[in-house]
Amino acid sequence: MTQSIGILTSGGDTPGLNAAIRGVGKACLSHYGMHIIGFRDGFRGLMENRTMALEGEALSGILTLGGTILGTSRDKPHKMPVNGKVLDMTETIVANYHANGLDCLVCLGGGGTMKNALRLHQAGLNVVTLPKTIDNDVALTDTTFGFDTALGIATDAIDRLHSTAHSHHRIIVVEIMGHRAGWLALGAGISGGADVILIPEIPYDVEAVADAIKTRKRKGKPFSIVAVAEGAISQQEYVAQQAAAAKKKDKKSKEPVVEPELVYAERTLTLARQLELLTGLEARPTILGHLQRGGTPSAADRLLATRLGTAAADLIERKQYGFMIAARGETSAPVALEEVAGQVKTVPPDHPWVDSARGVGTSFGD
Ligand code: F6P
Repeated sequence: MTQSIGILTSGGDTPGLNAAIRGVGKACLSHYGMHIIGFRDGFRGLMENRTMALEGEALSGILTLGGTILGTSRDKPHKMPVNGKVLDMTETIVANYHANGLDCLVCLGGGGTMKNALRLHQAGLNVVTLPKTIDNDVALTDTTFGFDTALGIATDAIDRLHSTAHSHHRIIVVEIMGHRAGWLALGAGISGGADVILIPEIPYDVEAVADAIKTRKRKGKPFSIVAVAEGAISQQEYVAQQAAAAKKKDKKSKEPVVEPELVYAERTLTLARQLELLTGLEARPTILGHLQRGGTPSAADRLLATRLGTAAADLIERKQYGFMIAARGETSAPVALEEVAGQVKTVPPDHPWVDSARGVGTSFGD
């Protein structure tokens, strides 16, 4: 019997989402003769039964488009704001899945989406997911689509910041996205030749960062680029976070838990000010922000998204559900959602990229 497939994109948008929608859609439609329907704005659209026809011309001309033609949201099925209340809308979602006669739902998303997709799978839906995020922090996949494009944008930004830092003998502190993982800052920092790279996985000492910059100055290079991941923290903040986490675990403790705030941009501004004071050089912060998520996907992301999208269709054809299609070298592999949900792939402090950066003299401020 012909299978009917639903597809949605959830979480922050990512270059390559449309390439993946096209990959899943074209393979399902043309190759396997299935039906396919899109849901708008992530799980919210599925809950509200807002659909988009994907048959006909809808999948043409979208390979190169940034963003997602379906729209996205960060809404979770089990915690959805509805009429001023936060409700568990899983039952409504399950009902809409059946009302649309679906045999499988394909969810394109990052770590949060994997958890939500698993919940729906456990609620009885057939689900397949694809890993997308510029953060590259989804577990058990070599990489995620969106990462390569963002890496290119952030690297280009560092290249441009170099010439102005050089001309004005300044420090430029450039904040790079990545949430709590340092992949993007590390990759762009290495590719752009940043002098200092700060990532969440290696808490920094601001004095050590300043020392690295002063050493450069002494050697006749009175300018520096500091590539800081938005989630990077100082060693003092790290200690405070660990203490807060321990207090949270210790249920007997009556002391109120004051968790350190993760206010990305403010931390970057503070770091620039601290470096100015400690080095005597002028410092300027640059927050790359959502520029890193916008625009046309790179060739590598189009290729990856198409490969994973068509592999999803192959898996659905075999009626295998409850999996994320992971990138594995030149090919792909299904990974059980139970294994991937709730895991975050952070940078191991002894990762080869870190070793290479240290090898060319980059400081991690540790
Ligand atoms: O997960 C992708 C990401 O771009 C992170 O790097 C960043 O912390 C976050 O999303 C920003 O989210 P929003 O677009 O909701 O502000």
